[in-house]
Amino acid sequence: MRISAPVFAVLVLVLSAVPADAIVGGREAPAVPWVVALADRAGTVFCGGALIDRDRVVTAAHCTIERTAVTKRDRRPEELTALVGRADLDGGDGHAVAVRAVWRHPDFTDVAAGHDVATLTLAEPVPVRPVRVADTGPARATVYGWGRTGELKAPSRRLRQVEVPIRADAECAAEVPGYRPEGMVCAGYPEGGKDACEGDSGGPLIVDGALVGVVSFGRGCARPDQPGVYTRLSRYLDLI
Ligand code: ARG
Repeated sequence: MRISAPVFAVLVLVLSAVPADAIVGGREAPAVPWVVALADRAGTVFCGGALIDRDRVVTAAHCTIERTAVTKRDRRPEELTALVGRADLDGGDGHAVAVRAVWRHPDFTDVAAGHDVATLTLAEPVPVRPVRVADTGPARATVYGWGRTGELKAPSRRLRQVEVPIRADAECAAEVPGYRPEGMVCAGYPEGGKDACEGDSGGPLIVDGALVGVVSFGRGCARPDQPGVYTRLSRYLDLI
């Protein structure tokens, strides 16, 4: 089939506007032992997390609430499974562990208002070295997850990762309405293209091998001037 020049130009424009492959814009990750996928009773992975103790997973507060268009209810421990170190959700690597207790930040109401942090206590400890929690300023960071690889694309069955720059708080505040530097971190390129997306929530943001944030929210995914927002874990060290 021959395509006329104007049609070709339009096609190039349309295709280049579609977010690239990824978490968004990233690549498949090697197995990371302390990265956690959270599965519901049906086995559906709905969020990520990170092992911060042999029997404790940190995730996002909003991951502990199941929302539909009209309903909202707490996820109960007995309906949750933590898949620790299982990069390929169709494989059997790592550990599938039941959850004994769910703690959610008591002041959490909505992601935009912050305090988007929760911990899950596992039914038994796993023989995996946990990740250490640290604070961060602007730095190169890596985010991991099984979420959508574009706003309109499917989630991934294999763990993915992407590098995103952590931005200065003043820049985050200029781009994210209601940004609260004490409890949030934002990351992403001004031109967009690389980001976490739906399904990556609760998953780890890593700087120099340490956990600095969990995926919280964003407007769309990987859009220009719309950095991803993460919970700043150093703020919550006394609680988690
Ligand atoms: N709220 C989403 C989730 O539940 C995470 C969104 C992150 N979005 C972003 N653009 N960084 O999976």
